[in-house]
Amino acid sequence: MRKNIVAGNWKMNCDMAQTQILIEALERAMPAQVNCEVMIAPSTPFLFQAFNLTKGLSIEVVAQNASAHESGAHTGETSLDMLASLGIKTVIIGHSERRDSYGENDAIIKAKVHAVIAQDMRVIFCCGEHLETRKAGNHITAVTQQVEKALFDLKPEQMKQVVVAYEPVWAIGTGETASPEQAQDMHAAIREFIANKFGSEIANETSILYGGSVKDSNAAELFAKPDVDGGLVGGASLDAENFAGIIKAF
Ligand code: PGA
Repeated sequence: MRKNIVAGNWKMNCDMAQTQILIEALERAMPAQVNCEVMIAPSTPFLFQAFNLTKGLSIEVVAQNASAHESGAHTGETSLDMLASLGIKTVIIGHSERRDSYGENDAIIKAKVHAVIAQDMRVIFCCGEHLETRKAGNHITAVTQQVEKALFDLKPEQMKQVVVAYEPVWAIGTGETASPEQAQDMHAAIREFIANKFGSEIANETSILYGGSVKDSNAAELFAKPDVDGGLVGGASLDAENFAGIIKAF
């Protein structure tokens, strides 16, 4: 069975004190029984602190980004070796904010995905269309192309290290959520696309998360869809009660 996952993408929020306050609030708010994997992605400077604060909790600390380069003259970047040395096992790659604001194109994202896999880590690979693409009816082609460009040179067994996050750009941080049907349609298309390349067994084992204004009030109806295996949550993950409510949707 593929895993259900709720991952909080804190983006560039929370300083050192706030990181501690939020993790402690989350510890109090977490349900006694958790029926999914729970991840949080704090900012890079606080990963070590978050890692220590979550010891013994059912919360995995993951990174928001990493360099595809091993080491050396890459000012401001963080290598996968560095993240691994902290105990990080999962990295988010290809978020639309990285694509749109930091010039990460398909080739860069592919290199990062392959580097994460080579490091024996898991990747949460983000894909998603802009509003004009959806309005033009090209959203499925656009998203499956992103999937193909980043993932299709992986070996089938490496797909076990891949979690896909479908995040329509028009729904990120806008308060506008894809309807459960829109999410399901895209997730089913992504899964079929992966099945055509890697086989249905691998496709069925691949968790596909939805991201874009997920909150406690809409998580249950999204997660009820057969191909929606959880959420990548931005804004609502900064509110412990709301994030715990999303976890409780499973
Ligand atoms: P949002 O962000 O939940 O604030 O829309 C989601 C994301 O960017 O991962």
